[in-house]
Amino acid sequence: MRIEDPNILAELAGLQIERQADVSLAELTYLGIGGTTDLLRIRKHESIPALLELLDRHAVTHEFLGGGSNLLVIDGDLPFVVVQLAKPENEVVIEGNFAQVDAAADLGRMVTYCAKNNLGGMEGLIGVPGTVGGALRMNAGAYGTQIGSYVREVKVYRAKERRIETLRGDQISFEYRHTSFAPDDMMLEVKLELPSKTYPEILKGIRLCNEKRRASQPLGQKSAGCIFKNPPGGSAGRMIDELGLKGFHVGDARVSDRHANFFVNAGQASAADMLALIGNVRERVQQAYGVNLENEVVVWNA
Ligand code: EPU
Repeated sequence: MRIEDPNILAELAGLQIERQADVSLAELTYLGIGGTTDLLRIRKHESIPALLELLDRHAVTHEFLGGGSNLLVIDGDLPFVVVQLAKPENEVVIEGNFAQVDAAADLGRMVTYCAKNNLGGMEGLIGVPGTVGGALRMNAGAYGTQIGSYVREVKVYRAKERRIETLRGDQISFEYRHTSFAPDDMMLEVKLELPSKTYPEILKGIRLCNEKRRASQPLGQKSAGCIFKNPPGGSAGRMIDELGLKGFHVGDARVSDRHANFFVNAGQASAADMLALIGNVRERVQQAYGVNLENEVVVWNA
């Protein structure tokens, strides 16, 4: 989708929204798949309600993009524009055991910055790609750590109420790869409360998690991490592996040889290839185990 109306473009400029035309989502996602559209970058949180009101008024549909690490986007000319927070100068501000973090901050960099300030707890999240906002929205977790455990406050744009609100941690429910935020809420800032630990102690934990991850996941390849959530009490990766599906592919969309719940773009995979692979594997798991695997990856397909 391309915004051509000069009135909309003038209003966007007035809101200090930076607009890039014909941006390829293949370049903004870790899977390296996706069509083209306009990208609107927000510099000031305060301009969000007016921006979304403007888009609604002109019937321009939109999607919010975080870091693009857990996302599969359809190909072609996309029927929506993409809205993203610009990176701020100060991503993290620390005060005692609290870290105030911008949602556009890189998750790994945030964990490292806190570690250098002797705040730990999030060692397990070190290799999880993406932004803090994306991690928050789906309660990202690894190696026994979930970001939700440390959340004390979240500043969020509530799409339904069309305003920015600050919620206390106890007003949000954080479950396995799920939160009580509405799908169109936009994470803006989070206050985390983290346990004090020495930097060397945190570094030890970080190194251990990095080693485990390197040993079991296809890190250098284009992927969106785990494709399916684990079913209660089970492991999607183990089930897919047991069915002998490592290396199974549709075009260049391929079940990783290293971890069967990672599907990689091994070349020029299209969104259709990846969706066909996901559907096919889900079907086989359903037939063999009677388990309906739920997507962990977010799919923008309309
Ligand atoms: N397994 C296999 N074959 C495989 C993959 C895994 O047999 O191809 C077995 C493993 O041997 C192990 C079990 O399945 O016994 C679980 O595997 P693993 O420890 O790799 O963890 P996982 O449940 O597959 C989860 C998260 C990962 C996270 C790791 C580490 C989900 C869907 N995945 O994977 O998160 O990094 O634990 O804590 O919850 C993600 O969210 O994108 C993600 C990669």
